[in-house]
Amino acid sequence: MENKILFFDTKPYDKKSFEESNEPFHYEITYLKTHLNQETAKFASGYPSVCAFVNDEIDASVIRILKQEGVKLIALRSAGYNNVDLKAAYDNRLHVVRVPGYSPHAVAEHAVALMLTLNRKTHKAYFRTRDGNFSINGLLGFDMHRKTAGVVGTGQIGLCLINILRGMGMEILVYDPYPNKILEGKEGVSYVDLPELYRRSDVISLHCPLTTATHHMIQEKSIAQMKDGVMLINTGRGKLIKTTALISGLKQGKIGSAGLDVYEEEHEYFFEDFSSSLISDDLLARLLTFPNVLITSHQGFFTREALANIADTTLRNISAFLKGEFMENEICYRCGNVCRKKQGKRCF
Ligand code: NAI
Repeated sequence: MENKILFFDTKPYDKKSFEESNEPFHYEITYLKTHLNQETAKFASGYPSVCAFVNDEIDASVIRILKQEGVKLIALRSAGYNNVDLKAAYDNRLHVVRVPGYSPHAVAEHAVALMLTLNRKTHKAYFRTRDGNFSINGLLGFDMHRKTAGVVGTGQIGLCLINILRGMGMEILVYDPYPNKILEGKEGVSYVDLPELYRRSDVISLHCPLTTATHHMIQEKSIAQMKDGVMLINTGRGKLIKTTALISGLKQGKIGSAGLDVYEEEHEYFFEDFSSSLISDDLLARLLTFPNVLITSHQGFFTREALANIADTTLRNISAFLKGEFMENEICYRCGNVCRKKQGKRCF
């Protein structure tokens, strides 16, 4: 019974990587395709641990049902945890663990892929040349060298991105309420406040978590402070950007281009195939009409290395819980984001 784990929102690639990582653990894993929500939480009956992903909405009502069904641990196979009501989890004595930094390179490299594609329009060139069209009209880009990049959030992913962009000869402006000591005195990197970052950056990339402080941090007022023609990249979380404001900025030409790996209402669409059906979300449909918008479907994490790390760490997190060991990747409402203050002890 203790050995059983119920997975929600599983895709074939999840199953493959977890089956490989499970060899030494021998957990009895049941893989469900469905999201974890109020309707499906009851399926967790008899499972002490459930494993969920970024678009599973683990609010207070879902947590209450999980608790009633006997669940003790929610193991997120993601770094972000904005989809969990941590207070409700704490009040119901449910532990929550996550996978921090499974491959910051994967996400940072994807952010650069979005930047370079938007800048040099390789996505358009691909179709042109395959169609026998060798014209380069309309594909004009700019040198990234000597341009200014604004990086919001200097955690693991932000740091990787800064290193890549410095290699390209960009000047880097960064903002983070908790400055990273590693960046102290680093040539070409300066901590500034957000208004200065907005005002001076040619490219802005978001790498902070979604919190009440960062929800819709990019809206009409912040966009108005940005350079005309700015490139905006979001591989963080969709709700960092107010989509209606982004669309207005694009229509006015204030925002020169946008690369989005995440979208406010992505849980309805991302990771699923809608190619034979309608997109009823008018904002998403509108975004898809802009030639200077590139949307990818939350694939920043999607590398072989990241999938292997996610599976290994998730199963180690569950093992630590079952053995009653200190869980270094616990996110605890009482202790703050990460349960580190209680070294060697659980909060409950
Ligand atoms: P991290 O925890 O290492 O770094 C986050 C940084 O953001 C920290 O330095 C923190 O101080 C900073 N921060 C907190 N509040 C802030 C604010 N108000 N303004 C600016 N910075 C703030 O996290 P990591 O691993 O770098 O990931 C960042 C985010 O990327 C995650 O929270 C997640 O939402 C997203 N992510 C996206 C993935 C994708 O596939 N697109 C995959 C993995 C993470």
